[in-house]
Amino acid sequence: MDGNAVMKGNAMKKYFYFIIATLLMATAAGAADSQIWGEARVTNILGYGKEGSSHLGPLFTMLQANYFKIIFFGILIGVPLAFAVHYLIIGAKTFSHDGKKIYVFSVFNRFIHQVAALSFIILVPTGFMMIFGTELGGGELIRTAKNLHGLATIAFAIVVIPMFLMWVKDSLFKFEDIKWMMIVGGYLSKKKKPIPAGKFNAGQKIWYWIATLGGMVMIISGAFMYFMDFDIAILRNMTNMSQIDLLRLSAIVHNVMGFAIVAMFITHVYMSVFAIKGSIHSMITGNKEEEEVQILHSSFYKKLKEQGKL
Ligand code: HEM
Repeated sequence: MDGNAVMKGNAMKKYFYFIIATLLMATAAGAADSQIWGEARVTNILGYGKEGSSHLGPLFTMLQANYFKIIFFGILIGVPLAFAVHYLIIGAKTFSHDGKKIYVFSVFNRFIHQVAALSFIILVPTGFMMIFGTELGGGELIRTAKNLHGLATIAFAIVVIPMFLMWVKDSLFKFEDIKWMMIVGGYLSKKKKPIPAGKFNAGQKIWYWIATLGGMVMIISGAFMYFMDFDIAILRNMTNMSQIDLLRLSAIVHNVMGFAIVAMFITHVYMSVFAIKGSIHSMITGNKEEEEVQILHSSFYKKLKEQGKL
């Protein structure tokens, strides 16, 4: 290599270092005003390398990088696909709408249920928008989704306890629920044979527990993430976890519970809107068709008859 080439090489190196230094300074200047280093800095969160900062770090990073998105994608595509196949092969259950109506849901029941339904109609798509935020281009759209997700959570948080209380008695498991599960509620057959179930069948009971208790877990873990900088000394002392680990744990719990809630919510909507024709009317009028109750909730029907309530 001649002297000229060496000088050129040195100049290139200096230029390269100059560019890197400029980029670093620009980043630092930008970050000084950002959420991480600016006034909104999360003061409770330990930096990397500090004692207690990284216990759940590797687990969280591994799950977040490799599993959460792909599982949500699988649920979003797989669950509706499975039901589309069910609809095409077995089809909807249709009951006479000309017969007697049985009043099952009070005005209060319906109001609470409708607010929960409305909140989920916002929570689920906006949750997916955040999960696939990068693919959707990020920015204002995803920030709006995040804010709507937060607002809809408030509506759900208001109704989740009344919903828990109003349906808890009908959602306790009984022996007949095992029988229901063994025949998958009769949904794998086209026949109209009386199915062992009370006011709610085993599938509905499972949804009830996931929607209410699981819903509460979602609210709490979501709130932890939303108010990142909260400082609950009792919680830290009880769990002996650092703030960053509490946030990682919240994110893991929110995602895993989210899998179950979203899969069950899609199932719930499929059942109410497609699998049982006209079933959705009950959440609006409070009435169910007599034949539907007689077949799909046979022990509830028997009980109503015995009590002379029909
Ligand atoms: C668009 C959304 C929704 C629709 C169309 C819908 C529809 C229905 C219908 C038709 C029923 C009566 C089923 C029957 O007894 O045969 C029902 C019951 C119920 N819904 Fe919903 N619902 C929706 C959202 C929700 C949400 C968001 C929750 C809770 C977070 C929820 C919780 C329940 C529970 C616990 C029951 C009683 C047990 C059961 O049927 O599974 N629903 N829903």
